[in-house]
This record gives sequence, structure tokens and C-alpha cells, in this order.
Amino acid sequence: MGYFITFEGVEGCGKTTQIKMLSDNLLKLGYSTKLTREPGGCKISDKIRSILLDAENSGMSPLTELMLYAAARAQHIEEVIVPSIESNKIVLCDRFSDATVAYQSYGRGIDISIISTLNSYACQGITPDLTVLVDCEPSLGLMRARKRIEESAGPREERFELETLAFHNRVRKGYLQLASEQSDRFLIVDGSDTIEAISAAIATKVLPRIPEKLRAVC
Ligand SMILES: Nc1ncnc2c1ncn2[C@@H]1O[C@H](COP(=O)(O)OP(=O)(O)OP(=O)(O)O)[C@@H](O)[C@H]1O
Ligand SMILES: [Mg+2]
Repeated sequence: MGYFITFEGVEGCGKTTQIKMLSDNLLKLGYSTKLTREPGGCKISDKIRSILLDAENSGMSPLTELMLYAAARAQHIEEVIVPSIESNKIVLCDRFSDATVAYQSYGRGIDISIISTLNSYACQGITPDLTVLVDCEPSLGLMRARKRIEESAGPREERFELETLAFHNRVRKGYLQLASEQSDRFLIVDGSDTIEAISAAIATKVLPRIPEKLRAVC
């Protein structure tokens, strides 16, 4: 079996930047990685992603949002995550089930028990071995994310970026709460640092946790 690492944190904290850098580091060391993301990661889930992140869908109800995340996750788990873990890969997933707790429970106010039930159906017993929380002030992350959206040519995917700062502060609080409750699984890094310093901190903390035997079997 492989090893499952998720990256979490508020908008623009640097997840996508850092997950690619960790993947590159692992490939150089001889590991085989599968880089994926949520919502999305496969054709059907990417279609759900475009509904979820489209700013035109500002009227989406919190419960619809939650169910769409769960549907996208169920497909992604079955089609991508489980097969990749079974083929001894290090699976690196940009956001996963903790995001649903942070955004839909702490952010939107949906009862945590509903979220836990849906997550457990969607995940089929799969939980991350390790979760890297890239923590920063939401105001800093949102500034970076907005700049990236303005500069990129792809779909704007900004429904969450348009939420209030109070919403994003609740999301950050949720992530920090999860990390304090499950401190064995979570590693927190300071997302306000430079890209290089964060990458070095992640490598120092993550590499010793990865089973050495995975290098040989990949
Ligand atoms: N530590 C950093 N310092 C300065 N800029 C950064 C840092 N990390 C990332 N950036 C830049 O900020 C923008 C957002 O970074 P990135 O896309 O990695 O964040 P993210 O957490 O994946 O965002 P999202 O939640 O929107 O997916 C990018 O343009 C990236 O180049
Ligand atoms: Mg990203």
C-alpha cells in the first residue's frame, strides 16, 4: 500500500505551489507520486468542480454545496485515490475531507455530524496518513489568490474567494481546531513565509514520515 498525503489551508495560502514542489522532491528521491486535487481529480468530479467554483452559482444552498463535494469525492476516491494507493504510490491530494469540515461546518454552519456521515460514505474508510496545513492569515491568502485569478487565463473559479473575510476567518479557525485535535496526522507550516522556506520546512517534516520501503517498490 502507498501513502496518502493531503494539503489543506485557506484560499491562496500556497497549497498548489507547495504540493508540486513536494512531488518534485519525492520524484527526485525515487518515489512514485500521484498528484491530484479536490474538488476534481477525474473527469466526472472535474465537472462537479466547475459547478462548485463558478461564481455565477452564488445562489447555491449550503446543503447542495455539501452534497456536490461529497459526490465529487466519492467518484475521486473510487476512480483515483484507491487505485493509486493500491499501486504503492505516494498520493498527494490538494484539499480533501478536512476542507469539507472547515468550509461547510465552520464556514457555512452545517452540523458536523452530517458532514462526518457524508465524508465517511464518500471516503470508504480511506483517511490521509498525513495532512499538511499551510496556515496563513486569510487576508494574505485572498490577496495572493485574487492576483493569481486576475493573471491566469483559465476559468475564474472564484466563488469562495468572493466570500467575506469573516467566513474565511472561520474556515482558518476550523482548520486549526482540526489540527489541534489530530496533532499526529497534521503538520502545520507557516504559509506567510517565502515559497522556498515553506517548501524546505515541508520536506524536513514530511520526508521522515514516508515509509522507506515505498522507494524500493515504485
Ligand atoms: N509563500 C508565498 N509567498 C508569496 N506568494 C506565494 C506564496 N505561495 C504561493 N504564492 C503565490 O500566491 C498565489 C496562490 O498560491 P497557490 O495557488 O499555490 O495557493 P492555493 O492555496 O493553492 O490557492 P487556492 O486555495 O485558491 O487553490 C500564486 O500566484 C502563487 O504563486
Ligand atoms: Mg490551489
